[in-house]
Amino acid sequence: HAHIDHATPDKVQAAIAAGHTHAHIPEYEDYATYVAAGGYEELTALRKGGDWEAVQQKLHDSGLRGLGGAGFPSGRKWGFVRANSGTRYLAVNGDEGEPGTFKDRFHLESTPHMFLEGMLIAAWAVEAETCFIYMRDEYPAVLEILRREIAALVEAGIVTEGYIDLRRGAGAYICGEESAMIESIEGKRGIPRHRPPYVAQVGVFGRPTLVHNIETLHWVARVCREGPEILNGVERNGRKGLRSYSVSGRIKNPGVHLLPAGSTIRDIIEAAGGMLDGHVLKAYQPGGPSSGLLPASMDDIPLDFDTLQPHDTFIGSAAVVVLSDQDSARSAALNMLRFFEAESCGQCTPCRVGCEKAVKLMQAPSWDTELLEEVCQAMADASICGLGQAAPNPIRLTMKHFANEV
Ligand code: NAI
Ligand code: SF4
Repeated sequence: HAHIDHATPDKVQAAIAAGHTHAHIPEYEDYATYVAAGGYEELTALRKGGDWEAVQQKLHDSGLRGLGGAGFPSGRKWGFVRANSGTRYLAVNGDEGEPGTFKDRFHLESTPHMFLEGMLIAAWAVEAETCFIYMRDEYPAVLEILRREIAALVEAGIVTEGYIDLRRGAGAYICGEESAMIESIEGKRGIPRHRPPYVAQVGVFGRPTLVHNIETLHWVARVCREGPEILNGVERNGRKGLRSYSVSGRIKNPGVHLLPAGSTIRDIIEAAGGMLDGHVLKAYQPGGPSSGLLPASMDDIPLDFDTLQPHDTFIGSAAVVVLSDQDSARSAALNMLRFFEAESCGQCTPCRVGCEKAVKLMQAPSWDTELLEEVCQAMADASICGLGQAAPNPIRLTMKHFANEV
């Protein structure tokens, strides 16, 4: 179990006094400490004469899947990108914007080099010419850690100056959608592109681009160093692997909890110290607002990729928010739709107008469920990207499981 070292006013004052511009910097494993524990040995050995397909096989054996939330088999992307000749790029998605998700921040604020080595191994595997790291600006401590540690890599001769290009986001949720992120890296307004073509074929500046999430790359380094067993050797409820659940809400110890991938909401609440005194589990969000709300009665489902599909939702980035008998499912769903309305890029009508109309309908004393379902169907069928396609989930699941409230 792990917890983020939160900034407090005292720590922020101390940081400013020490010359840091923004933030309290938590204790983290720096370059020297990482190297002393065997860090970068794997990368150096691979660069000297490794076989990228052997590394891909290791990832495949480990079962590693994309931890941004989509769960696409990580190693397969390497093959897609390598299938294209000419200049290739790697772009890291650090725009962790899904409300309730803070696992990437945790990994970067504790072991940044595990991510950086994983990134450089992936870059080696696809022969990327440049690595772009797209990092959300709301993580000032992470930005400072990355600036320092990338400088340490340049000084140590592990990368040349400019090979790692750290880019800052500007607070738009949609820039976490991979093609919008790429538009933003190119200096344009971040709006999603149609796919196909996938970014593996046409990515940054029109070149084939490998896109990975921060935590995925953390595990690339660990699988290379510790073997596929680090993931496939852990089993619970018939599921294999580990998940960094970002847990918040009515529990005693909010934070990132590293648990077996087959954990149920009951396991997660237990790991998070139990429910707050006087609160009884009523509902939970398994993976951010995009995944909507499930009722307490569904407390025995392993919260992993694929397992929530029969229940019309998904685990996504494993942002678990716990609601109690003192919370309103209806208000929570409205809050989620307000978020999507605010963050919709406005490019396509089903999402732009659908979110706005849904919010209005959800503000009525009682919901017109038939009309809301029609709006949901149009949004799910005809939106360009995941935002508009997933926005109906909180509406539909609330109508299904909390009908008495709406
Ligand atoms: P997706 O399943 O469409 O794509 C996943 C990845 O696989 C992408 O990199 C895509 O390019 C690649 N891919 C898929 N099929 C491919 C093919 N045939 N050829 C080549 N590459 C292919 O999912 P998407 O829309 O990228 O992500 C949705 C997920 O993102 C949701 O699960 C949601 O929970 C999560 N999410 C996470 C956030 C966070 O802050 N971590 C924020 C918002 C959403
Ligand atoms: Fe933009 Fe929404 Fe359309 Fe995505 S679904 S492209 S966020 S308007």
